[in-house]
Amino acid sequence: MTTTPIRGLGHPVKRKEDPRFIRGKGTYVDDIKLPGMLYLDIVRSPYAHARIKRIDASKALAMPGVVDVITGAELEKAGLAWMPTLMSDRQMVLPTDRVVYYAQEVAAVVATDRYTAADAVLAVEVEYEPLTPVLDPFKALEPGAPLVRPDREQKTNHIWHWEAGDKEKTDRIFQEAQVVVSQDLYIPRIHVCSIETCGCVVNYDRATDKLTIWMTSQAPHAHRTVFSLVSGIPEHKIRIISPDIGGGFGGKVPVYPGYVIATYAALKLGKPIKWIEDRSENLQADTFARDYHIHAELAATRDGKIRAMRVHTVADHGAFDAAANPSKFPAGLFSVCTGSYDMEAAHVAVDGVYTNKPPGGVAYRCSFRVTEAVHTIERMVDILADELGMDPAEIRFKNFIRPEQFPYKSPTGWEYDSGNYPATLQKALDAIGYQELRREQAERRARGELMGIGISTFTEIVGAGPSHTFDILGIKMFDSAEIRVHPTGSAIVRIGVQTQGQGHETTFAQIVAEELGLPVENIIVEHGDTDTAPYGLGTYASRSTPTAGAATAVAARKIREKARLIAAHLLEVSPDDLEWRDYAFRVKGAPDRFKTMQEIAFAAYTNFPQGLEGGLEAVCYYDPPNLTFPFGAYVCVVDIDRGTGQVKVREFLAVDDCGTIINPMIVEGQIHGGLTMGLAPALFEEIVYDENGTMLTGTFMDYLLPTAMETPHWKTDKTVTPSPHHPLGAKGVGESPTIGAPPAIVNAVVDALSHLGVRHIDIPITPAKVYQILLEKGVAE
Ligand code: CDP
Repeated sequence: MTTTPIRGLGHPVKRKEDPRFIRGKGTYVDDIKLPGMLYLDIVRSPYAHARIKRIDASKALAMPGVVDVITGAELEKAGLAWMPTLMSDRQMVLPTDRVVYYAQEVAAVVATDRYTAADAVLAVEVEYEPLTPVLDPFKALEPGAPLVRPDREQKTNHIWHWEAGDKEKTDRIFQEAQVVVSQDLYIPRIHVCSIETCGCVVNYDRATDKLTIWMTSQAPHAHRTVFSLVSGIPEHKIRIISPDIGGGFGGKVPVYPGYVIATYAALKLGKPIKWIEDRSENLQADTFARDYHIHAELAATRDGKIRAMRVHTVADHGAFDAAANPSKFPAGLFSVCTGSYDMEAAHVAVDGVYTNKPPGGVAYRCSFRVTEAVHTIERMVDILADELGMDPAEIRFKNFIRPEQFPYKSPTGWEYDSGNYPATLQKALDAIGYQELRREQAERRARGELMGIGISTFTEIVGAGPSHTFDILGIKMFDSAEIRVHPTGSAIVRIGVQTQGQGHETTFAQIVAEELGLPVENIIVEHGDTDTAPYGLGTYASRSTPTAGAATAVAARKIREKARLIAAHLLEVSPDDLEWRDYAFRVKGAPDRFKTMQEIAFAAYTNFPQGLEGGLEAVCYYDPPNLTFPFGAYVCVVDIDRGTGQVKVREFLAVDDCGTIINPMIVEGQIHGGLTMGLAPALFEEIVYDENGTMLTGTFMDYLLPTAMETPHWKTDKTVTPSPHHPLGAKGVGESPTIGAPPAIVNAVVDALSHLGVRHIDIPITPAKVYQILLEKGVAE
């Protein structure tokens, strides 16, 4: 038997991918260099809304090294001036007559090197006639508002209306309710700001008639299918390779015009083309997240039992509905906004609106609008507690879905798989010393100091998704794994999802190690190449573990079933006389007679029973029966400086429950990163436009990303409530902290100011905003 430890589920295995990353040996798209490669750069609009009167490329074309300038007029002739979005809208690749947002792509330059291309971008002359931009989504809905999208049949800026829940029942409860609280909340535009920007290298090989695209894609298979459908090139003639990726967070799911233009240029010019965005282009023009204007109401009894929730949201989608939500959910999974609380009814309505801004709606480290949903309910519960004079912890305990109610059918139709909310909150309160903190707060308040304690007890919804409900452009959202065990007992696992830093090369190897009893070191994981990986819908929305993770476990179990037959042959017993225990097939009642997977693997190629196929491999396309519902209880303690309005996060404890944990070290890392990405919109980040639609936050000087300096010391803990339907009991984890942290922080800030009559503050809670409140309340120093 092998003496090398297996290190399967639950082991803090160091990330297998890190040795190449920390040595600078990763291969990112910009590391791909092909002979004769040309460089593409993009001319962008200085206007949010303008007619294009003339594009004159003559000066650019006269520059040495400039090979071509591509315009919308040329793409139109090729039928490529527009492309479909993943939400069944259409989006300009390059404009033919008008631009509809600031920094929109206007033309593309191809040159022999990157610097010449950048210089030539400045030499392309474009004459614009500015038009009135529509920037406020409420004004966009007014009759007579200028049209953002005159190309559409429907002559309004309204995109769609979407509802969930029972309106009649909800309205009835609101009419008879003892207490009603309501609040407007704005969740502003933010940007994913992955370290690596977007880009691609496209190579068309005339000899093999094959198009290869190295691309920063979170969903290479889905992108290949879309490329094939749009271009008419057969799918097997397209190969998309998603190499190492420096962060995706949802921003690498949409198809950007740059990809299409680069592909067109490669086919036209017969040369490899590289296009890599610079930092400002990425920040100014790629798809944005959030931008939800929410009106929320809760109906409750006087003693604090929530009875119903009513929400209406105006969703600013910018000029194109280019979000990447599952087809049937234009507002994503926003209807999970009843959160962790049991109530009789709910009704949620969302209206999507066009404005002259870059396309919005990307699921930024969030399972399709769950951040917005969680922020809404977690703020509203605190507002209700404030109205009733209740403690925010007490009101949560009173309203939690109880452990015995799972599986729980929510009033908007979701079936929560498992949870134990009171246990998680109690653990967090005990660990942080909640009662003591409340005593300290009272003392400080008496001295005029501003200290707040905020709680967030969120429920996530991840793992899209079950094929009966979830598809993107008709493609069902299952995921896949393919495992091949080699004769000497090492193995290769190919998966349909694509890592962008989450450590899949380690955790997926651990799943196989656990299921097959092979040491984790001997298992290699591959992904991201459409020529070799099985078809999958990609990595976003914390779906990898719930979908491809399950597929990997099921594929491994299929291998184990075949291995049982080979073990029986080797041990000369019936397969029924064997049991899988301690990582080997053992004869029942005689556990010393056993065969390890390594021995079985060798026999699978050298000594398998007659009638059985040789080899040891399996494939699984896993269609999850349900989503998974991770949850957590976060407690945040803040102090506010009365002289500057600055909020200091003194303490933050995150107790998370993501079911069975595959790798506790990776999970902790995911939570640390996610918490920082939750701190960011709570206190710092917001995309701002001026009255002309020009972005004012187009560089990191103005768009504040938290650095190590601004990030507090995160404390983490866990409870474990396995998912009953996932083969390993695992739920996703990557997004929980991003969605759970902002309301905990905001609730803490509002709690620090509640005795002054403050009930809500929209994020980001900047020092300027807080100082203004302190001035108004007469407590500024
Ligand atoms: O889809 P994505 O990989 O972004 O999200 P995820 O499924 O939440 O997983 C993030 C990372 O945490 C992956 O490496 C998972 O395998 C790991 N993970 C884990 O070790 N245990 C869990 N219960 C959930 C995730």
